[in-house]
Amino acid sequence: MQLNRATNLACPLDGLPLAPAERQLRCANGHSFDIARQGYVNLLPVQNKKSREPGDSTDMVEARRRFLDAGFYEPISRQVNALVQRHLPTGEVCVMDAGCGEGYYLDQLSRALDGSGREASLIGLDIAKPAVIAATRRNKDITWLVASNNNPALLPQSVDLILCMFGFPIYDAFAKILKPGGKLLLVDAGPEHLIELREVIYPEVRKSPPPGLDKARQEGFELIDSQTLTYQTSELNRAQIADLLRMTPHLFRATHAGKEAAAQLESIRLTVDVQFRVLERG
Ligand SMILES: C[S@@+](CC[C@H](N)C(=O)[O-])C[C@H]1O[C@@H](n2cnc3c(N)ncnc32)[C@H](O)[C@@H]1O
Repeated sequence: MQLNRATNLACPLDGLPLAPAERQLRCANGHSFDIARQGYVNLLPVQNKKSREPGDSTDMVEARRRFLDAGFYEPISRQVNALVQRHLPTGEVCVMDAGCGEGYYLDQLSRALDGSGREASLIGLDIAKPAVIAATRRNKDITWLVASNNNPALLPQSVDLILCMFGFPIYDAFAKILKPGGKLLLVDAGPEHLIELREVIYPEVRKSPPPGLDKARQEGFELIDSQTLTYQTSELNRAQIADLLRMTPHLFRATHAGKEAAAQLESIRLTVDVQFRVLERG
């Protein structure tokens, strides 16, 4: 595979194409965005930030990096890679990871595509600067952006496939940047996901299905493929349990007593229950 730099970046202020100029990207209206020393570009206009440090904190990012590097979610990554390769068209392609976190899955995808003989540009985008900085350390050939799913700062109809894993899909923004027939791969927790840990930290466990697709359908998406992956992890030790709690919203929702109970655990094996849904843009 040849991994190309993305050439479909758009100014987040006026939507015009961005072109490289020195250590910056610039649009024809003169808006400029610095390429950071680590290689990422911040395309999140200050006025679009809802808080000073939006998204995951450095602490959460580091916890996720350690947990993912331990391999507990590697089967999820393998299934993503297989689905992406099945649903990508032939020829040169552009894949965008919306809410890429610290870049584990996109980096794994780039390795899986290696040797496939195709040309690709891979774009990882996250609203959290600490996540994007961590992602640049994983892979220098991926185009990493600080940006929001609300305004992904990519040219209309320029993306073949969007990956949205345990994230926050914005269907109208995604429909705008996908090519006609482009795909959206949603990866979400199923009802049994991490059930053993949830039973420890919550007095009552709700087994909710993944989010519904009504909004996606309203934006012209159609469900074309759906798969479930269920397996048991190997044993997590105390530090890995703490990392998992830190990297998921459970940490914020659990009661004090729940967190105390989790802190007492020496080890635990967990059920992973994940749903993969591929939607096609009409
Ligand atoms: C649960 S994490 C999942 C990260 C990664 N997809 C993974 O599975 O490892 C959600 C990610 O979405 C990011 N995020 C939250 N709101 C966002 C938005 N509006 N646009 C882009 N990213 C966002 C967070 O900073 C965080 O990295």
